[in-house]
Amino acid sequence: MKARARAVAPYSKFRVGAALLAKSGRIYHGANVESASYGLTCCAERIALFTALMEGEREFRAMAIVAPMAEGAMPCGACRQLLAEYADEAVVFIADSRRPKVIREFAVKELLPGAFRLLPDKT
Ligand code: THU
Repeated sequence: MKARARAVAPYSKFRVGAALLAKSGRIYHGANVESASYGLTCCAERIALFTALMEGEREFRAMAIVAPMAEGAMPCGACRQLLAEYADEAVVFIADSRRPKVIREFAVKELLPGAFRLLPDKT
């Protein structure tokens, strides 16, 4: 919810917040940032993940995502691909920002079965 307050969504006005918990114990925030060239917009989930990766994190436990939508917003396909590549072991908690205590839980593995990869899985 804190991350969501920092969304930059002048076009859709649809503010999304994400918080990514790394195995280090640190939490990285992300919020959607939009462009007038709509396709350049970046989702909250990717901003959180890229920030954490840039800080050197490589192992993740969980991501929480809130958006003002009944039952919350599911991550888009692009975000699922990146989560599958970098946070395959994580769980994703999803909630409607208007009812943030009603939470649904998914495994990253179930959100994108058979994800495209160029590198072998970590053992
Ligand atoms: N958005 C996210 O940030 N995450 C999602 O999971 C779905 C969509 C953003 C992108 C855009 O700024 C706005 O929501 C409307 O699509």
